[in-house]
Amino acid sequence: MIKKIGVLTSGGDSPGMNAAIRAVTRTALMSGIEVVGIRDGYRGLVEGLYIPFKRSSVSETISSGGTILGSARLPEFKEEAVLMKGVEKLKENNVDAVVVIGGDGSYRGALALTKHGINCIGLPGTIDNDIEGTDFTIGFDTALNTIVECVDKLRDTSNSHHRCSVVEVMGNHCGDLAIYSGISCGAEVVITPETGYDEEAVLEKLKYLEKLGKSHAIVIVSEKICDVQNLADKISKATGFAGRATILGHIQRGGSPTPTDRVLASRMGAKAVELLIEGKGGECVGIKNNEIVSMPIEECVSLPRSSRKEFYRLFDRLV
Ligand code: F6P
Repeated sequence: MIKKIGVLTSGGDSPGMNAAIRAVTRTALMSGIEVVGIRDGYRGLVEGLYIPFKRSSVSETISSGGTILGSARLPEFKEEAVLMKGVEKLKENNVDAVVVIGGDGSYRGALALTKHGINCIGLPGTIDNDIEGTDFTIGFDTALNTIVECVDKLRDTSNSHHRCSVVEVMGNHCGDLAIYSGISCGAEVVITPETGYDEEAVLEKLKYLEKLGKSHAIVIVSEKICDVQNLADKISKATGFAGRATILGHIQRGGSPTPTDRVLASRMGAKAVELLIEGKGGECVGIKNNEIVSMPIEECVSLPRSSRKEFYRLFDRLV
């Protein structure tokens, strides 16, 4: 029977993390379980930065972006000595179980802790949507909305000036933010890890679209694939469009979460507490076909991301 749960956020923050912290806190307290908020991810866990949470500790947080707990990346948590220091700190503070909100790197830490007797549940908190075992991660919808708002604005000015906007979006090694925003904004070209990067093919496509009478164009590029400024320059030289590059950057990580993210985070946070009450650990929560589900972290981190072929086929049919 668990008496005290810790909750932390780790890795890149994402809108909706606060809604998840709130749901964990409120559902645990309702079940008579104490809660501590752990500051700054695994670093705070190892250093004992534990804050006793009351119901009011999470008041008025559901609409705020970022994470009230702070987040950090601690690659050293993989080292046995650092991990053991964390286990000891949790035991010293009578924390029986932890809910970890973060990406797949954070999940590995949760699994390691579970193997050392501290049951942990992972919640997918990242804008990248790059975690298997869930259709959507917490923050993806908000980031997508931010991108769409920005690209719609870029389209207005591109249209006025016969330009091609080359827009870099985040996603780490996952193209979901790019392909979803590409479809939503009616982009002409999307470049992601799934499509690969063929510069000649991009230029040819833009020339072809220009011949069809297009007055402007939008190219959406996943980060870590090519230099968008360089591509914009090449577009200026090879086509009749003037190329302009925009890197959306960290603006995509901020902002008030959309209702979709708030509801998702709340459902997932409640599920994490249920799993811990059932005595489970080493599991991660997801949403599949609008059902909240869970699966072993070990399986989740070893699976390749499921294919988005249907989205790419759709995109090609809409240009
Ligand atoms: O994982 C979230 C993410 O925003 C990625 O999309 C991006 O590659 C990375 O984090 C950026 O990390 P940082 O904020 O440490 O620069």
